[in-house]
Amino acid sequence: MRLGSIILFVALCSLSAYYVYEPIPEDIEERWKLMLTNTFFRSLSHLADLSELVGLKDYMGVMYIITLIENIAPVSDEHINVTVEKFDGVEVVLYQPKHQSGNTELRRAIIYLHGGGWCLGSSRMGPYDLLARKVATELNAVILSVEYRLAPAHHFPVPYEDVYRVVKHFLQIGVLAQFSVDPGRIAVSGDSAGGNLAAAVSQQLLKEPAPKVQLKAQALIYPVLQALDLNTPSYQQNQDMPILPRTLMVRFWSEYFTSDKAFFRAMMANAHNNPESSSLLKFVNWSAFLPETYHRKYNYSAPAVGQGEAGQAFGTSGPSQSLADPRASPLLVPDAALRSLPKAYILTCEYDVLRDDGIMYVTRLRAAGVEVTHEHYDSGFHGALMFTVWPMDFLITHRMMSNYVKWLKENL
Ligand SMILES: *[C@@H]1O[C@H](CO)[C@@H](O)[C@H](O)[C@H]1NC(C)=O
Ligand SMILES: *[C@@H]1O[C@H](CO)[C@@H](O)[C@H](O)[C@H]1NC(C)=O
Ligand SMILES: *[C@@H]1O[C@H](CO)[C@@H](O)[C@H](O)[C@H]1NC(C)=O
Repeated sequence: MRLGSIILFVALCSLSAYYVYEPIPEDIEERWKLMLTNTFFRSLSHLADLSELVGLKDYMGVMYIITLIENIAPVSDEHINVTVEKFDGVEVVLYQPKHQSGNTELRRAIIYLHGGGWCLGSSRMGPYDLLARKVATELNAVILSVEYRLAPAHHFPVPYEDVYRVVKHFLQIGVLAQFSVDPGRIAVSGDSAGGNLAAAVSQQLLKEPAPKVQLKAQALIYPVLQALDLNTPSYQQNQDMPILPRTLMVRFWSEYFTSDKAFFRAMMANAHNNPESSSLLKFVNWSAFLPETYHRKYNYSAPAVGQGEAGQAFGTSGPSQSLADPRASPLLVPDAALRSLPKAYILTCEYDVLRDDGIMYVTRLRAAGVEVTHEHYDSGFHGALMFTVWPMDFLITHRMMSNYVKWLKENL
């Protein structure tokens, strides 16, 4: 009896050690904290898988509900007036620094787009609220955090279009005046999928005929920038890395476009391209756009054009068209479309499947003559900027945040 319990206890311990332990690279600081944090996220993910398996609720639905727990009510404080408004029908959370008495100086503004793979997250999540308050306070700037609609309930281009509507509405002289915003000092920014939306919006604004107001800067934090090649060296190197394993990123991409599981399987195999999208592979050729140190260990081979199930199912349908759309994959535009973009800040992390998306954009923007500040974190992991709250708070988060704010202060 006692021996039985001991054996059971030892078995449980080694099982949980096995579950917690992950081969996290030595040079990541606070490794054990990250391992435990990741165990938490993996457990949630398994729970969501289980729920989908038994037919309770689909994976993204469960993950979405879980992220809602992090939401807090937007409330004003001593320094910042926080209000929820509708801009052209889309909800935004507005952070306005309270005017010092007698001071009517025009202020800077940042349109912020939260991450979460276009499927999860909200401008109301604690870490985003904190970030908005910090930037608003330190820059005396107005922050506009956009509550765009999410996939899979709203596939591409709905989330993108929500953001674009807000930006167009805000960039009107009359609206800016209402919030005491300087029309020459407005930036768009976002992390992960939010960085994708920020990059896409910056590009599409250039197509507007005779715009009165233009963006001064774009700040992209570990952005997602292309869906054509899901086997870049960083996708290969970091496929099992914490917070955003390759499977989850592929899941986000496929859900952004369609609920058809066959498309997810094709993307997992990197065999989801069609003749139209594969003609754009030259824009995401990592053999050409990554510094040699990043690609020399890998042999480049262009992703296959979908055969069989994928090729037949997606020859001409919705997700195939979305794949080649630069509003979903901002890397897919020719150099001429990059030339007039506002100056950029791009943050990348070594241990992130999206590292190479960011680095390729740095290369391409610089080649097109755009001023780029590239901040690469050698021991960084995806999502690091969001870990501000104990016990899941990381040293790297604070460094990232202060560097990001510093760049905005000096460049906006
Ligand atoms: C805060 O915003 C509300 C709504 O826009 C406004 O009525 C109020 O005067 C503002 N308060 C301050 C202190 O700016
Ligand atoms: C990618 O770039 C390499 C050279 O760096 C070139 O040999 C190859 O043909 C390119 N492939 C595509 C699909 O553009
Ligand atoms: C790349 O190709 C070379 C030569 O064909 C081969 O020796 C090497 O193992 C390949 N590397 C990878 C990572 O596939």
